[in-house]
Amino acid sequence: MNRICAALDVPDLRSAAELARKLAGHVGMLKLGLELFTAHGPAAVEAVRGAGLPLFLDLKLHDIPQTVEGAAREAAALGVQYLTVHASGGAEMIRAARRGLGAKTRLLAVTVLTSLDDADQAAIGLARDAVPRLAKLALAAGADGIVCSPHEVGSLRAALGKGPELVVPGIRPAGAAKGDQRRTGTPAEAVRGGADWIVVGRPLRDAPDPAAAADAIAREIAGA
Ligand code: C5P
Repeated sequence: MNRICAALDVPDLRSAAELARKLAGHVGMLKLGLELFTAHGPAAVEAVRGAGLPLFLDLKLHDIPQTVEGAAREAAALGVQYLTVHASGGAEMIRAARRGLGAKTRLLAVTVLTSLDDADQAAIGLARDAVPRLAKLALAAGADGIVCSPHEVGSLRAALGKGPELVVPGIRPAGAAKGDQRRTGTPAEAVRGGADWIVVGRPLRDAPDPAAAADAIAREIAGA
């Protein structure tokens, strides 16, 4: 199984379709994010469906339960396999997302953004145990999996057992630029910690040969 989820963080449909085509056969899933979906909506999903890979709509919903339930219903109708919400929206919001999605789309809950370091988390009032606490709350409310950083995946896997899917962004192959990410780790570190999926954006998007970059990550994972 190829555990690489490529984030198609590009501004237009043509770039998304081209990157998806280059990565087909080299990654296991494609992630559509806020930039592309805000600009193009459902057409973004259609633009990359031809790659024949599972699709992950990363909208990180965070609103009142009724609003999130409606948005989740519409996301499921697009035929995507995964949708994200923020776990900090609370148990009732997560239950509403679960209802809206129905049986075919899996619900992932984001714990704490990988761009936040300890000082950032303290500044917004997040307690030190926010990641495990939010993860347990989300799973109890019906989430199928958790999005967490490479720093927490090992302890979460130990605490949560084999069941929940753990999806890990903030991935940086050795030597790659961090950009705005703070809690980062290598592909091998994340997979050794128990990640089911690693989310890789810029290290693939900005590579001269994205397929070759994905293959190098796949080899690193196989060695882990
Ligand atoms: O370019 P990079 O590899 O940093 O991209 C990471 C991707 O994962 C982005 O699309 C970002 O929106 C997403 N993500 C994240 N942290 C989370 C959840 C999702 O970086 N907690």
